[in-house]
Amino acid sequence: MSSSAPPSIDSIDTRFGDLRIRRVAGHLGGEVLDLKLDPQLHPDVIEHLNAALVAHKVLFFRGQDQLDDARHQAFGARFGRTVAHPTVPSPQGTKLFELDASKGGGRADSWHTDVTFVDAFPKISILRGVRIPAYGGDTVWANTALAYERLPAQLKQLADQLWAVHSNDYDYGADRVQVEEERLNHHRKVFVSAVYEAEHPVVHVHPVSGERALLLGHFVKKLVGLSTAESARLFEILQNRVIRLENTVRWSWRQDDVAIWDNRATQHFAINDYGNQPRLVRRVTVHGEPAVAVDGQRSRTRSRPEATNDARIDEVIAATA
Ligand SMILES: [Fe+2]
Repeated sequence: MSSSAPPSIDSIDTRFGDLRIRRVAGHLGGEVLDLKLDPQLHPDVIEHLNAALVAHKVLFFRGQDQLDDARHQAFGARFGRTVAHPTVPSPQGTKLFELDASKGGGRADSWHTDVTFVDAFPKISILRGVRIPAYGGDTVWANTALAYERLPAQLKQLADQLWAVHSNDYDYGADRVQVEEERLNHHRKVFVSAVYEAEHPVVHVHPVSGERALLLGHFVKKLVGLSTAESARLFEILQNRVIRLENTVRWSWRQDDVAIWDNRATQHFAINDYGNQPRLVRRVTVHGEPAVAVDGQRSRTRSRPEATNDARIDEVIAATA
């Protein structure tokens, strides 16, 4: 972890061109050493980052102080079409998703995959530490492919056939330790200002690696065809497999760090243990495809309002172009 001591040779992955990647945990997570992220990176480097991301599932980069909002967004656009959050307004003139701990809704302290309440959920998220507390505020990621791989055969068969309804109007307080009134209000008024619902297979096939992975997290409202009570029990059994500690990697942020994760193969959780210290992170989100079930069926939209942030931003761009 320290930059003063060189990492051991055994922990370095050199499969991806010139990238040197230090493995951070046993089952996912790699720190890319000595690389400054930039919108002008050579296409080969972007290709190697994409491949390394699929292999390691989350990549970390220390000290990326050359990135500002504009360069962060331009760098993100090298991975695909960037999209704003469907309901939470972006900082003006951007498509960034901002988590500011001083505001309601600014603490992502619940296990989830980003924006799974739409059918074509993001494939990649790129998070930049703009203001990092002196202690606390680590983020933890979990490997949803390994969670599936380690299921007993009987549970794999069951999970393969299940579908789940994901909604932004989920039970916000369900597994959070403490939820202040301000956060609940923000969730109701902003996050759920328009209700989105999508149906995803509980087991989906990763479009690049071909790995099967569990697609769950806190946006799951219920399992299709089951009662709420039965859904909750089955969800818990499978979700608990995802978040086992040996299936996770934990990152202690420093100022200007960047984390990039494969949103198709991970869940994450931002630990809310930093009290009232400022914590500000900004995310560039890259558009993805509907999930594909093991039988080839694709995710479906159940509810999608007409007006979205994306549409509004496109209008703004059109008006100012
Ligand atoms: Fe998130």
